Amino acid sequence: MKDNELALRIVQDHEKLDRTFSDLETTFIHIMEAGQGAEERDALEDARADLAFALEEMLEHFGIEEEAIFDHLRVALPDLAPRLDALEANHESFCAHTATLRKMVAAANAGAVPLDCEDALRILRKLKGALIHHNSAEVQLFLEALGRLDDEGQRLLRENLDRL
Ligand SMILES: [Fe+2]
Ligand SMILES: [Fe+2]
Repeated sequence: MKDNELALRIVQDHEKLDRTFSDLETTFIHIMEAGQGAEERDALEDARADLAFALEEMLEHFGIEEEAIFDHLRVALPDLAPRLDALEANHESFCAHTATLRKMVAAANAGAVPLDCEDALRILRKLKGALIHHNSAEVQLFLEALGRLDDEGQRLLRENLDRL
């Protein structure tokens, strides 16, 4: 696979998460406008399902990146370590924010506390913006690494990027 094809594939994989968060944004706006009742309950259920999917996707995607790719790059190209550490810190923050949203939606679903839509949207929009920034920094780093690794290192990186 050529570098531009590989970059496109990673971008497309990242877009899956971007889309889920965009759907969630629409759902939160819907909940805000729906008022109480069946419409709100349906929208909360949509939000619950989207958040469960997002968290699952993130754990799988980030897990492969951290264990199969970042660890290997830290050894092969040690100067990349600070950038890899920053990307890893982003992963933790994305998961933490998604978990916060999940708790808020779960509490609303259980009828315990109504969903604070403005707060949920604020967290979500911050997360969406940070994710776009993260994804572009990550693709840039992967391409840079591909240009610097030896043949075996490149083969390994391509193989693992293909798992994303
Ligand atoms: Fe990442
Ligand atoms: Fe990624």
